[in-house]
Amino acid sequence: MKEAIYPGSFDPVTYGHIDVIRRAACMFDRLLVSVLDNKAKVPLFTVDERVKMLQDVTRDIENVEIGCFQGLLVDYARKQNVHIAIRGLRAVTDFEYELQIAQTNRKLSGGNLDTIFLCTSLEYAYLNSSSVKEIAYFGGDISALVPPEVAARVKEKYGDRADERPRS
Ligand code: PNS
Repeated sequence: MKEAIYPGSFDPVTYGHIDVIRRAACMFDRLLVSVLDNKAKVPLFTVDERVKMLQDVTRDIENVEIGCFQGLLVDYARKQNVHIAIRGLRAVTDFEYELQIAQTNRKLSGGNLDTIFLCTSLEYAYLNSSSVKEIAYFGGDISALVPPEVAARVKEKYGDRADERPRS
């Protein structure tokens, strides 16, 4: 069985991530999309919320499973017995960082974890989760960037913080 892990923060999942998930799911028998529980960062969404949103937006893709992990990707991949990681590349500016992570993971895993890069579809090449959060924070329209159920949850989060927005 051909299996791969698509790791990420997914805070929140965007149409760019979903594009990579759909395309990778066509290439593998099982795709494990895994949310990093990174204690060093303060995310907008909890791991459970991010997992739930990923489950919602991938419910029509049979061979996709959603998981989460802490610590090193190589340790998680070994426990899952998966030897391929998927990452999306939006532009050349992503490449240096991604190359370094891919090389590190290959070294740390003793050659047991390789990375396959998928070029993000052009229409999503500008898109990232941070922009989604910033646009929503300032009351902008994120409907072209994330699915409606995700947009609603982002708005709920910032609805609570409306008083913190800078006033003009
Ligand atoms: O969506 P992101 O934040 O770009 O995803 C980054 C991620 C989760 C793929 C990467 O930070 C990761 O795998 N972190 C786990 C820790 C790890 O294994 N680090 C070693 C590589 S330097």
